[in-house]
Parts: sequence; structure tokens; C-alpha cells
Amino acid sequence: MMRRGGAATFFAVLSVSLLLYISYSSLNTSTTSFRLRDSAVDKVAKNYSAWHDCLKKNISIYDGNPDGLWGNLWRGIKLCEVLPEMKGLFIGDYPNSDETKRHIVPKMVSCRWKTSKLLYDFQQLPSVIVTLGIGHDTGAEEKLIKGLPHGSEFFGADPMHEINENLYTKLPGKYFPFAVADAAGLAEANVLINTSYTTKTVVTLDIIYFLKNLVKRTFIDDIWIDGEGAEYGLFDHFFNDGKFDENGITFCQFNIEIHKPDNLQKKLFHDFIFQLLKDRRYAIYRPVQGHHMRLFMVNFANEECVYKYIL
Ligand SMILES: *[C@@H]1O[C@H](CO)[C@@H](O)[C@H](O)[C@H]1NC(C)=O
Ligand SMILES: *[C@@H]1O[C@H](CO)[C@@H](O)[C@H](O)[C@H]1NC(C)=O
Ligand SMILES: *[C@@H]1O[C@H](CO)[C@@H](O)[C@H](O)[C@H]1NC(C)=O
Repeated sequence: MMRRGGAATFFAVLSVSLLLYISYSSLNTSTTSFRLRDSAVDKVAKNYSAWHDCLKKNISIYDGNPDGLWGNLWRGIKLCEVLPEMKGLFIGDYPNSDETKRHIVPKMVSCRWKTSKLLYDFQQLPSVIVTLGIGHDTGAEEKLIKGLPHGSEFFGADPMHEINENLYTKLPGKYFPFAVADAAGLAEANVLINTSYTTKTVVTLDIIYFLKNLVKRTFIDDIWIDGEGAEYGLFDHFFNDGKFDENGITFCQFNIEIHKPDNLQKKLFHDFIFQLLKDRRYAIYRPVQGHHMRLFMVNFANEECVYKYIL
């Protein structure tokens, strides 16, 4: 009896220690492999933090003041985009006849060839560019396509097919004849007909369906959003655990025009900017402030995006 009891205790103690040992060592391995993995996001974390601290410090006086933020955000962005920590980004300008889109092209293959096979693979991947709102002008797309890897793809949506369909198809790109918004349906939109903007009822498709089922891409290098107001409904899609995360959709970069806001929209914009800061995923550059505002965002929190565009 004694011996069997002793043996049982012995095995009990042994299995508990084994369990402890296994869980301890697996904990250990995961931290080690985390370090060994040499995450690209980790490598740029300090630089991102410098930018983040800078902008946060500059605009926190406008937390709770949508009017103040709308009028002054550009100052903070201009201050922080020239930090030494942001000098490694090569943001290119792609003008069309009335504005300028921004884009960072994938790093040159030759620079990285020797350092890592993984990097080389990423850089061979062609880009996916999406245009929401073509506006009778593909000047920026035509300039961009020349600097992108062979096989890069363009997808453009605009409810006005005249002119837009021809221009976009010629890029070459795939053209879709509707507006893209947060939900499918009908909307009143300000659209370009001939040479002037006119209010018209347009068909909208929801952006998740559009990207997953029609564009059929979930890794998007850059999306150019010119939604004439539809962008307000998309703000929360970009948040951590928002609709884009829920659907596994990644944007490495995006250009967005924020249409001249009313008071409610100023509040939405205020909440958008402060939530982006909380999420610590995107950094914001190249503000252009007029009646509308244009911003350019870069994703610092996705491994592939960081390898392809930042490191
Ligand atoms: C934010 O930056 C702008 C532009 O450099 C500067 O004029 C302003 O004083 C700054 N505001 C704060 C609160 O740091
Ligand atoms: C990070 O910041 C340093 C300056 O502190 C800069 O020299 C370097 O180029 C930056 N790295 C990247 C990837 O931008
Ligand atoms: C646009 O121009 C075409 C050709 O000049 C003309 O036939 C058409 O009526 C115009 N449409 C509008 C809405 O002005």
C-alpha cells in the first residue's frame, strides 16, 4: 500500500512538473521564436512611435473639438512628416489635372536581393491599386503604372461610365460602373457630367462585397478614395477589428479626399483621426487643406506592407 501510494504521489508530482516544464518551455519557445522571427513591424516600431508621439502631442488640444481639428490637423501632420524617423519613406507625387495622389513604390529588388530571400519574394509581387471615383481623369494612374512591377493591376469604380470607362480600361484597368460606399443601394451623389458637377441618383455597392467578390483581392497596395461624401461611411471600416479586419482586407497605403464637412461630419472626422491614433496602424502624411481635405496614409502594422514599402 505504502509503495503504491508513494508511486502514485511520485507520478502525480512528476506529471505536474512535466506539465509545468512543457508549458514553461513552450512559453519560452514562443518568446524566442518571436524574437528570431525578426518581425518587420517590430523593426519600424520605434520610428512609428516617434511619429505617433509627435502628432498626438500636437493635436491632443483638439480632442473634443471637431472644428479645431478640421482647421488645424494639417499643421501637425506637416510638422511630424519631416521627423528624421520618417526620412526613410519615399512618397512619390502623381498629379492629375486638379490634384495629386501619393504612392510609395515597392523597394527595388536589387537592393535587397542579398539580404533576404523573403524580402525578394515580396518585392516580386505586383501591386493592386483601386480607384473609387475616377472623375474623367486617369493622369495619376497613367504615371503610377509606369513605376510599378510588371503585372500590377488597376480596378476603378465610378457611377458615370462615359469617359471613365474608356480612360480606365486603356490603363489597362478593370472598370466598374457604380459608386462604392458602406452599403448597397441608391444614393444622391455629386457626379461629373460633361464639365460640371450635378446631383444624380447613383447605384452604390458596399465596399466589402466590391473588394471580395468583384475585385477579388484582399491585399491592396493602395486605394484612392474620392467618394464625394461616401468616405464618411467608410471611416470605421479602417479601425482595428473594423469591417476590413473582419474580412481580412489589408491596405498598405490609401489616399482619401474628405469632402467639405457639415458639423456632424466634422465630428465623424474627429473621431476617425483620434481612433486611428489609438489603433497605431496608420501614419498620416501630405495634408492638402481646402474646402475638402486630402490625406495619405501608410500602414505600419502589417508585415507584408512594412517589408514592401517601409523597411
Ligand atoms: C503644432 O504644430 C504647428 C506647426 O508646427 C505649430 O504651429 C503648433 O504650435 C503646434 N501645436 C502644439 C500644441 O504643439
Ligand atoms: C528610422 O529612423 C531613423 C532615424 O532615427 C532613420 O535613419 C531611418 O531611416 C528610419 N527607418 C526607416 C525604415 O524609415
Ligand atoms: C453632355 O454633352 C453632350 C455632348 O456635348 C450633350 O449631348 C449632353 O446633353 C450633355 N449632357 C449634359 C447633362 O449636359
